[in-house]
Order: sequence, then structure tokens, then C-alpha cells
Amino acid sequence: MERTFVMLKPGVLPRRIAGELITRFERKGLKITALKMMNIDRSLCAAHYAEHQGKDFYEGLVEYTVSGPVLAFVLEGPGAIAMVRLMIGPTSGAGPGTMRGDYARQTELNIVHASDSPESAAREIPLFFKPEEIISWEDGNDPWF
Ligand code: PPS
Repeated sequence: MERTFVMLKPGVLPRRIAGELITRFERKGLKITALKMMNIDRSLCAAHYAEHQGKDFYEGLVEYTVSGPVLAFVLEGPGAIAMVRLMIGPTSGAGPGTMRGDYARQTELNIVHASDSPESAAREIPLFFKPEEIISWEDGNDPWF
């Protein structure tokens, strides 16, 4: 069982597509084990994107990410990290059927972030959630997925 960190970014709520995006994760059988709506401050944003500091897109990335409320999640499931990355599609050139590919041709106002490795997930989840905010639950539906 794996946990991954997902963030629906500031472009999502104004476009009224949060429900549609969350539904995709649920239909895939991924389990929401933590969820909060929040405004990210610059220090949390800097910690989250520390590996990109100094890159030419860094300032734009931070400005956009702190520009409005986000929805932060922990999703759980077998192979959840790679599965979510497949579902959202690559940063550029995302194809139809992926979240990024279905909602834009090409944009710097990316709608969704997801951990890209087990190491990233282990680093990112505690930045956004205390251990007691992550709730594991069972409903007996796993065989369907
Ligand atoms: S890289 O180059 O592979 O290290 O970066 P990548 O993983 O593709 O992107 C990391 C995050 O930066 C965002 N990004 C940008 N934001 C604004 N402008 C430009 N030009 C740009 N290029 C990349 C990208 O959407 C990733 O954000 P998150 O929130 O992690 O998806």
C-alpha cells in the first residue's frame, strides 16, 4: 500500500472542476485518506518546491501556487504514486485522457501536482499533514478495484 501527495492548484476552484478531478481518483479506486483546503504561504511553498529553486520557472511557479486556495490530499492505494502520475500526465505534452491533457492544450498554470517518487511522497506528505490528520479506513470494496 502506498501513499502519495496530491495538490489541486489555484486554477481548479475558479474553474469549478474540483469535483470532476476528485471523481477521477475515486473511480480509479484510490482512497482519500487526508484532505484540506488551504492557502499556502510562501515558506511552505518554498519548502515544497525546494528542488526547483533557481530554475527559470521557479518564481512563476511560486506566484501561481500562492495565488489562491488549493486542495491538498493524501491518496492511498497499491502503486498509488506511479498511478496518480499516469492519471495527471506529464508537465508538458500531456495527452487526452489525462487530467492535464483534458483541461489545457499547454499551460504554465498547471492544475495538479502529485509526488513523483516514494522519496517525494515521504517528504511532501508531512509538509502538509500531521500524522493524526491522515485517516486510514476500510470499506470492503477493494476487490472491485
Ligand atoms: S523539471 O524541469 O522536470 O524539474 O520540472 P517539472 O517536474 O516539469 O516541473 C516542476 C513544477 O514546475 C512547474 N513548471 C512551471 N511552472 C510555471 N512556469 C513554467 N514554465 C513551468 N515549468 C514547470 C510544473 O508545473 C511543476 O509544478 P507541479 O506543481 O509540481 O506540478
